[in-house]
Amino acid sequence: MLSVPASQAPIITVDGPSGTGKGTICSYLADWLQWHFLDSGALYRVLALAAEKYGISSDDEAALVNLAKNLNVEFKVAEAGSLVNVELDSMTVTDEIRTETCGNAASVIAPIAEVRQALLSRQRAFHQSPGLIADGRDMGTVVFPDATLKIYLTASAEERAKRRYKQLKEKGINANLRDLSAAIAERDERDSTRAASPLKPAEDAIVIDTSTLDIDAVLVNISELVRNTVPGLQK
Ligand code: C5P
Repeated sequence: MLSVPASQAPIITVDGPSGTGKGTICSYLADWLQWHFLDSGALYRVLALAAEKYGISSDDEAALVNLAKNLNVEFKVAEAGSLVNVELDSMTVTDEIRTETCGNAASVIAPIAEVRQALLSRQRAFHQSPGLIADGRDMGTVVFPDATLKIYLTASAEERAKRRYKQLKEKGINANLRDLSAAIAERDERDSTRAASPLKPAEDAIVIDTSTLDIDAVLVNISELVRNTVPGLQK
């Protein structure tokens, strides 16, 4: 592909709640296109972990904003397409931030508008040539409103809880489907009803319901969309 100035590099945003296949799809797209990858949820998760580490309570907004502004986080990719290693204060936290507890803690501090503002420029810095895949809740609505292609993934709450349950079991982590469903519903409610950048599809997003689709079908569908939308793609 021809090299283009960073400001003109294409962006594909993939938003939606957890358990819709977003993470898998974004990793696949970044690997296939050899583009940069922003996992914005990881940023909110690292912030929640840092708050816990420094003993900052979730209602101390001023301290959280200060932490967000100075967060010492790094996303390290060994080589294009390989897994991202996440570091907080130079310590690997890749697995630690993946727990349900950390996801929930992230969603408790994510509604603070000033925290979101403090993380904006960090997220936009990922926009570099040859292109960016941005995974999150407000990528198409707020962070990259001029994205080339906006995808919004959705799936029934029941199906998402089942997928998450299966994922945890496969990792050998004990989980209870009912508790998991309740936690997911609670997190969705918080993410969708907050005033600052609520979870919702951008007006120009293409909405795909993955409830009855397997991941391969979703990938075929999205790859076709990408081929038809991103100019100059030799794929
Ligand atoms: O996507 P992930 O499950 O890692 O996100 C964790 C939490 O971080 C979400 O439930 C949400 O509250 C918050 N988040 C957000 N905006 C984003 C990405 C994540 O508010 N762009």
